[in-house]
Amino acid sequence: MNDQVTISPTTLSIHLTINGREHALDIEPRVTLLDALRDRLHLTGTKKGCDQGQCGACTVHVDGQRVLACLTLAAQVEGRAITTIEGLAGEDGTLNAVQAAFLEQDAFQCGYCTPGQIMSAVACIREGHAGSDEEIREYMAGNLCRCGAYPHIVAAVRQAAQELRS
Ligand code: FES
Ligand code: FES
Repeated sequence: MNDQVTISPTTLSIHLTINGREHALDIEPRVTLLDALRDRLHLTGTKKGCDQGQCGACTVHVDGQRVLACLTLAAQVEGRAITTIEGLAGEDGTLNAVQAAFLEQDAFQCGYCTPGQIMSAVACIREGHAGSDEEIREYMAGNLCRCGAYPHIVAAVRQAAQELRS
């Protein structure tokens, strides 16, 4: 019996750089970044909500910009720097200012939307779009929270933005 792994002609061999570590993957071209992260690499901090670009639960960073992992093909981001919620804290475990602010402001209930909210908030602050509560609401509008924790989320983003400015 031939026990060699058969790779289909439609399988791609790619390398993804995630949170500073390189991962080799054999995947079909249609596999999304979200499914590659969750199902193949077991990085389940990135959540699958709608799987169609509507909720923001799957937000990650690619080269520092926020993207929806459910609308991004894994093969599209080969060679780019991908950051997920698992890569946000320092190597010694020190929380990112936004993570710490979410805890302090009690900015979650069930927590399902939280990784996506935090990834968006980090980008929102970095983009300079956290100057007021209105601006925070506008630039965080792509991240839905079924629990309605919005006032606490805005407070957390405001706090982190102030801390990072000072
Ligand atoms: S799971 Fe990607 S936007 Fe909802
Ligand atoms: S905290 Fe439950 S969906 Fe946002």
